[in-house]
Amino acid sequence: MTQSTPQYQTVSPEQVTTWFKAGRTNQFPIGAGATIKYGDKQIAVFYFSRQDRWYACQNLCPHKLENVLGRGLIGEQDGIPKVACPLHKKTFSLTTGENLNGECPPVAVYPVKVEDDYVYVGFAD
Ligand code: FES
Repeated sequence: MTQSTPQYQTVSPEQVTTWFKAGRTNQFPIGAGATIKYGDKQIAVFYFSRQDRWYACQNLCPHKLENVLGRGLIGEQDGIPKVACPLHKKTFSLTTGENLNGECPPVAVYPVKVEDDYVYVGFAD
């Protein structure tokens, strides 16, 4: 029997029906990722401190289905914010979710906003 994994699907800002309060901005690491839970989903949230920008994607790496992307290294490739999986270094765009260095399926990405020092991640369910 296969274990059921939550369904991750990219949410565009226009699709957001729920802004989930993920935590205070100062609870997130600077220039790195953290993982939050939304229902049965694990979401990796990243703070790019130099650009003062936030991104979110599924924590599940599509390569070997490990919940690790929140522990990945973040950076930029040709101006695209990305995360590298800590296990085998597959990198994913944090704007489109696309795998930038291989044939992996994309990850789902989610809108993030900051209001009054709180970080919110947008969901459509
Ligand atoms: S599990 Fe993420 S790159 Fe292999």
